[in-house]
Amino acid sequence: MNRSSVRLAVAAVFAGVFLTGMVKSSLDLRNTVTGEKLNLEDSLPDGRDTPAVRAFLETGVNPYNEDPKVLPKAKELFLTACSGCHGHLGEGKVGPGLNDDYWTYPKNETDQGLFETIFGGAQAQMGPQYENLTLDDMLTVMAWVRHLYTGPVDHAPWFTEAQKKAYKPYHEDHPAETN
Ligand code: HEC
Repeated sequence: MNRSSVRLAVAAVFAGVFLTGMVKSSLDLRNTVTGEKLNLEDSLPDGRDTPAVRAFLETGVNPYNEDPKVLPKAKELFLTACSGCHGHLGEGKVGPGLNDDYWTYPKNETDQGLFETIFGGAQAQMGPQYENLTLDDMLTVMAWVRHLYTGPVDHAPWFTEAQKKAYKPYHEDHPAETN
């Protein structure tokens, strides 16, 4: 190898190390209020490389929606990180209701939009959550926001056809995960 090909090889190895440490996404993720590009490198180091995170960053679809294995942890996370402002049923408090079909930001009815709002925040007390929650936790808590939904099923485009068929508006006394 001559000197310049050695230099190239060294550069390629460094680029490889650098790139594998980066969070890759096919999605064009934007701040809900400013429209600025979100930087996934801001995320916490843990929970970046789970199968669910990888699938979501490829497709924009949250694989945790209605996953019975995930819902108990999802509920716990929501009660820790969100319910103080949004109410324990997502019925609204300081922050708006999250369990009906009205969205201040209509993109929140897609998983990508909801992720963008949670990751990057919105206005006032809705701060960015990337310092509090890992990427995997964000998908997990999003599943609980979807699960708390009580509105008409035809206004819930985030559900798959099978989930739409199985849909029952959330009711505290009859949570679907224990049915
Ligand atoms: C300190 C209070 C606070 C906390 C904690 C908080 N939020 Fe919010 N949230 C707000 C406020 C206030 C708004 C309204 C912001 C706006 O309109 O721009 C909001 C807005 C939102 C919206 C947009 C709703 C719409 O109608 O478009 C979503 C989605 C949301 N929050 C989800 C969450 C989730 C999930 C968590 C927990 C990970 C969380 N928030 C934690 C206060 C909070």
